[in-house]
Amino acid sequence: MSNKTPNIDQILVSQKAIQKRITELAEAITRDYAGKELTIIALMKGSIVFLADLLRLIPLPMRLEIIPVSSYHGGTVSSGIVTLQTVPLPDITDRHLLLIDDILDSGKTLKVLTEYLETKGPASLRSCVLLHKKSKTIENITAHYVGFEIPDEFVVGYGLDYQEYYRNLPEIRVLKP
Ligand code: IMP
Ligand code: MG
Repeated sequence: MSNKTPNIDQILVSQKAIQKRITELAEAITRDYAGKELTIIALMKGSIVFLADLLRLIPLPMRLEIIPVSSYHGGTVSSGIVTLQTVPLPDITDRHLLLIDDILDSGKTLKVLTEYLETKGPASLRSCVLLHKKSKTIENITAHYVGFEIPDEFVVGYGLDYQEYYRNLPEIRVLKP
C-alpha cells in the first residue's frame, strides 16, 4: 500500500467544497420531491461515500437499494462494457427512483442503468452524480443533479478508486499518469 501514496496529485475538489455542494444538491432534491416518497438506487462501490453524506441531508421518506456495477476493470480508461451484477431488486413499479453514482464519464453506465430501470415501470426516474466529465460524455445522457463539472482527468477519493485504492481520501484528487 505504501507505494500507492505518491501517485496522487493535487486536490481538485476540497472536502469543504464537496460538503457545501452536497448541501445544495440535497436542498434541491428535497424541494423537488416534496410530498413524495423516494427510492434511492445507488451504484456501488463508487457512490458509497457521496451517498452516505447526501442521504442524511434529505428529510424525506425514502428507501434505499444498491446495485453493484463496474466498467473500468482496473484501468483508467473505461472499458465501455458495463458489468451489472444481478442483484434482486424489490418491485419498484410506480416508485420515484433517484439513481446515484459517483461520476458521469462516458455515460455508458447511466445509460445501461436508466434503460434497465425504465423497464420496471417507475413513476419517475432521475439521476444524481457528484462529478461530471462533460468532455468525455459520448452517450446522449445527462444527470438531473450534478455536483461538479470536472476536466478530463482520472480522479480518486471520496469513494472513487484506482484499482480499489484511494476510496477513503476525504477529497477528490487527480491521479498522476
Ligand atoms: P461511464 O460508464 O464511462 O460513465 O463511467 C462511469 C463509471 O466509471 C463511474 O461509476 C466510475 O466508477 C468510473 N469512473 C469514471 N471516471 C472515473 C475516474 O476519473 N476515477 C475513478 N472512477 C471513474
Ligand atoms: Mg462506479
